[in-house]
Amino acid sequence: MTDTADPRDRLIVALDLPGVPEAEALIDRIGEAATFYKIGYQLAYAGGLALAERLVARGLKVFLDLKLHDIGNTVAEGVRAASGSGATFLTVHAYPQTMRAALRGRGAGLKILAVTVLTSYDDADAAEAGYALPVAELVAKRAAQAAEIGIDGLVCSAAEAVSIRRIVGPERLIVTPGIRPAGAAAGDQKRVMTPGQARDAGIDHVVVGRPITGAADPRAAVQAIVAALT
Ligand code: C5P
Repeated sequence: MTDTADPRDRLIVALDLPGVPEAEALIDRIGEAATFYKIGYQLAYAGGLALAERLVARGLKVFLDLKLHDIGNTVAEGVRAASGSGATFLTVHAYPQTMRAALRGRGAGLKILAVTVLTSYDDADAAEAGYALPVAELVAKRAAQAAEIGIDGLVCSAAEAVSIRRIVGPERLIVTPGIRPAGAAAGDQKRVMTPGQARDAGIDHVVVGRPITGAADPRAAVQAIVAALT
């Protein structure tokens, strides 16, 4: 676990919006309350990579949630190119070859986060995909491999955070979605944690989307979450 000097950095706002104009409007409404934004597939393929560079130029931090997985050379070169954006975090799938390649391509300032097993997978999905292990064991195995390889951090569900912290030790970052302020709608998140519980579980950064993007006052929503995290 790391100490983040600015408490606002602990909250990563997921820009799950259809386009750059909507994302920029939200960022303007939030103002200085948030410092860290996540750009995923939806926005990345709709001008989000250029937006990432503009945010970095404004002194904001960016998490590129691109979940890379390919042959080693392609991953290493892709990560090298992504490093040029000035992003702080980039995700890859937690396959040993992919994680090693990502670390080879990682430039200064970029941290690689590994996604162990997608939380939409249950044991039947893992078996269908050809894995012999149940999901919980696969998660534990990949988390141990990630730590051994020297990955910077892991993305995991709130439900997995405590067990993954035990496996990876205090040095790795743990980044967790599925966070809901007390009383907020869970949406399609099945197991959720409040910001206070996330802090107590030793989670370094929480990723929050709809409770902010859908709030009548997104800035107030951000401020309440940051206050609850600190
Ligand atoms: O809107 P919400 O707060 O549920 O958004 C959470 C963000 O975290 C979304 O960008 C979603 O894709 C991402 N995420 C997740 N659960 C995972 C992995 C990523 O919700 N297991």
